[in-house]
Amino acid sequence: MTATLDTTAEAENKPAAGEIPSFDVTLKIQRFSPEVGPDPWWDEFTITVHGTDRVLDALHKIKWEDDGTLSFRRSCAHGVCGSDAMRINGRNRLACKTLLKDVNPDKPIIVEPIKGLPVLKDLIVDMEPFFASYREIMPFFINKGNEPSKEHLQSSEERERFDDTTKCILCAACTSSCPVFWTDGQYFGPAAIVNAHRFIFDSRDDGATQRLEILNDKEGVWRCRTTFNCTEACPRGIEVTKAIQEVKRAMITRAF
Ligand code: SF4
Ligand code: FES
Repeated sequence: MTATLDTTAEAENKPAAGEIPSFDVTLKIQRFSPEVGPDPWWDEFTITVHGTDRVLDALHKIKWEDDGTLSFRRSCAHGVCGSDAMRINGRNRLACKTLLKDVNPDKPIIVEPIKGLPVLKDLIVDMEPFFASYREIMPFFINKGNEPSKEHLQSSEERERFDDTTKCILCAACTSSCPVFWTDGQYFGPAAIVNAHRFIFDSRDDGATQRLEILNDKEGVWRCRTTFNCTEACPRGIEVTKAIQEVKRAMITRAF
């Protein structure tokens, strides 16, 4: 028996087996432009997206087809560069790692800039205060003159000690989800402490005492209230709160 080919328009539009069908979605985006005025406003866009599209794909579609003035940061589009952290339905996430189908697309998806940093335009915030704290903890190797003749040897156990905090991509999702940072922009914030942790517990580094002194400041680790917002927000799955606790402990015990 020969199978008949169904060439009707209906059959052509049918998703292939296993394919997630396209759907319509509305994005409600917080807008701001210093050229328009001092207050932010909301814009809604309803678009048709592919079943596997991410929030970043939707933002691109809106920018390319509906409103070229919509502004947001992105670079790698694959969760590596850390430039597209934003609040999506009230939670800090990377737009390039958030599937539309996973954020209740039956209702408008609320997209806002991350909190606690000055908004420059739409979803773009001024990251300078964030990077200023990062620079303060000296995110580089400090070697006090005991350079080995060939290479710095490190056991796998020693490497394991700070493995988690090496994964940071400096997206600021943690720091901008922290209520202490919202109310006091002077607080170093989780990301700076995570990156200090990465060096403090590295057996090859000699700058732990200096870094702990810096973080012993009134705006340092002791401002942390252990709310776990940072751990929940981290797109890299870093145990941020645990890292902060370990730095606090090292400050007291001087064991690192
Ligand atoms: S610790 Fe996680 S959330 Fe914080 S800046 Fe690094 S990658 Fe982003
Ligand atoms: S665009 Fe690079 S992490 Fe999302």
